[in-house]
Order: sequence, then structure tokens, then C-alpha cells
Amino acid sequence: MPVPHSKRSLGPLPLLYPEPALLVSVWYEDGKPGVMTAAWSGICNSEPLCLAVGIRPARRTHDALLARKAFTAGIPSEAMLVGTDYAGIVSGRRSDKFAVAGWTAVRAEHVDAPYVAECPVVLECALDRSVDLGSHTLMVGIVKDVKADEDCLDPTGAFPDIRKVAPLIYDAGARAYFGVGEKLGDAFSAGKQLL
Ligand SMILES: Cc1cc2nc3c(=O)[nH]c(=O)nc-3n(C[C@H](O)[C@H](O)[C@H](O)COP(=O)(O)O)c2cc1C
Repeated sequence: MPVPHSKRSLGPLPLLYPEPALLVSVWYEDGKPGVMTAAWSGICNSEPLCLAVGIRPARRTHDALLARKAFTAGIPSEAMLVGTDYAGIVSGRRSDKFAVAGWTAVRAEHVDAPYVAECPVVLECALDRSVDLGSHTLMVGIVKDVKADEDCLDPTGAFPDIRKVAPLIYDAGARAYFGVGEKLGDAFSAGKQLL
């Protein structure tokens, strides 16, 4: 007997909750800093720690990233919504996106790429490999360092407090940005009541 349910099949949508709205930054071939918004991304390995980002070959960022084998992924705060969206709809081929958004490009410490200083958290990534998946190239970067604003850190200082970072979250279904909600429980802990 099939189990009755009321789900509707929506087809293969790019849905995952939550999806980040990252600011991927690279040096262009002329030495100027570039930045684009990227949502197709995620941590994909622990040792070494890796971040994967899917980037279309048509983006100016694509070849620049491959040339220097480096990128940074900035996590924009809610206050950076307008600039983050702009960086996702206009190419660096026809705009100095840092200047238009009013952002500051800072040379990363561990990799050959700039980062957006206004992002409260930044991951510095060295390209480990690139994989042609079809429409996008999966850029797998080894995370060399994470930099976070002092005033975003949790009281221990070991990691950022997500409420202070207030990261932008992208909803690919509604094509809209959201903020994070309240803490609901402790990971690696709440499930222990079922042990
Ligand atoms: C919310 C959002 C998410 C995006 N995610 C991606 C992505 O993951 N990969 C990609 O190739 N383009 C993505 N884009 C589109 C690029 O950011 C956009 O084409 C940008 O203008 C490319 O800039 P560039 O030519 O300077 O590299 C996204 C755009 C938005 C608004």
C-alpha cells in the first residue's frame, strides 16, 4: 500500500535551505579586484578543509580565479544586501563593483586574492582543483584561513556569533534574501535524549 502524502513534485529546482549569498573575490588579469555573488557553494571536505563554489565559465570571475588559483569568499551581512545583489547582476567587465557598492578591497594574507573588507567573515581559499560539471565549473578551494571582525566573535573568541554576523541567506525558490532566525537547539547534543 502506498503511503498517502500531499507533496507536489516541483521538478529539479536548485533548492537547499539555507543557501549562502557569498561574495567571491579575485584579482583580474589587470590587477584590479573583482567580486561576484555566488550561492551554489558549500563546505565539502574537512581534511583539508574545503569550500566548493560553482561558477559559470561566462563570469569574469571564472578565468581570473583559475589564473591565480585563489579566491576569497566573503559572508555579507544583512546591511550589505543591495551591494550583494548588485554584484550578482552586473559583470566586472562593465563595472568597478567595489567602487559602486562602496566596498574596500583588501589583499588576502594567505592566498593571491582580495577580499571585501566590509564582510564580517571571510574565507581565504587556495584553488585545489576545478571540475567541469556542465553549466558551471566547481571550484574547490582549500580554506587557508578564516578572518572575522572582532565585534562579531562569540565570547570565547574562537568563532563568530551568527547573530552578530547576521549573514544574508538566499532563497533560490522565491529569489529573495532572508536573515537567520533564532537558535533552536545545540548540535551534537539535542539528539542525545533519544540515545
Ligand atoms: C543571489 C545570486 C546568486 C548567484 N550565484 C551564482 C553562482 O553560484 N554561480 C555563478 O556562476 N553565478 C551566480 N550568480 C550570478 C553572478 O553573480 C553574476 O553573473 C555576476 O554578474 C558575475 O560577475 P562577473 O562577470 O564579474 O564574474 C548569482 C547571482 C545572484 C544575484
